[in-house]
Amino acid sequence: MKILRKVIDIIDPIYVMEGAGVRLRRSIATQKLDYLDPFLLFDHFGSENPQDYLAGFPMHPHRGIETVTYILNGRVDHNDSLGNSGTIGKGDVQWMTSGSGILHEEMPKEPKIGVMEGFQLWVNLPAKLKMTTPRYQEIKSSQIPEIRREDGVVVRIIAGGVEGVKGAVTEIYANPEYLDVFIPAGFSFEQPVKRGHTVFAYLFEGEGIFGKFELESWENGTKAQATRLIIFGDGDVVRVYANKNSVRILLVSGKPLNEPIARYGPFVMNTDMEIQQALEDLNKGTFVK
Ligand code: FE2
Repeated sequence: MKILRKVIDIIDPIYVMEGAGVRLRRSIATQKLDYLDPFLLFDHFGSENPQDYLAGFPMHPHRGIETVTYILNGRVDHNDSLGNSGTIGKGDVQWMTSGSGILHEEMPKEPKIGVMEGFQLWVNLPAKLKMTTPRYQEIKSSQIPEIRREDGVVVRIIAGGVEGVKGAVTEIYANPEYLDVFIPAGFSFEQPVKRGHTVFAYLFEGEGIFGKFELESWENGTKAQATRLIIFGDGDVVRVYANKNSVRILLVSGKPLNEPIARYGPFVMNTDMEIQQALEDLNKGTFVK
């Protein structure tokens, strides 16, 4: 018997100032939710007012983590200590493995039409890969497989798989799944997930029913409105139903590491000593290996 996953918590994102003065909504790495193993941070940026993001994220270091940036609209210009530079545009994804260390700059820019909007997720690396060689995977929007079902459900598969279609990002230790799912009003979406993996949905448009319920008695499910981060308990399947309004979510899952964490800003290691080492490397100019 497949077990539907229940909703065990719903998080209201809080506004924080980050970088050189970017106002964004954060739902992981807050007082309420410090860590959702293996996910260390989840930010939703973008605003109608460019002053909320144009200051951007000037040169800063990372060690011990992976960052996943997904742009819905507008763009982020970036360059780094490995000599990479480029633009993450509308619908594009950048999956960055900082490993032993990178220094990079991420600068959001105004879109020609509409409002700048995007997301950044931090995925923890296991102890044995904290000091791995840094790596970038840049995935253009056109390379992201998209499933358009007859009922109007649209799924963009950034990582993981849906109905036998594989996502664009592979070979990530946490074996993550990262889907962008649109469900029209009156329809539902179900996704098998691995037992024991951490699963959350980030509801950024509309209103839906989540968790353990039968479609004919959807009132028994958990109702949530944008913008919320919805955390699921263990099980095999995630079910979402869009009742009167359409729904758009990011559905994210990954394998928990169950390892100690020591975090200090952009460094996430296993011990305080490793954090000290990162700071020392940065001061001595030996941070980038
Ligand atoms: Fe960064």
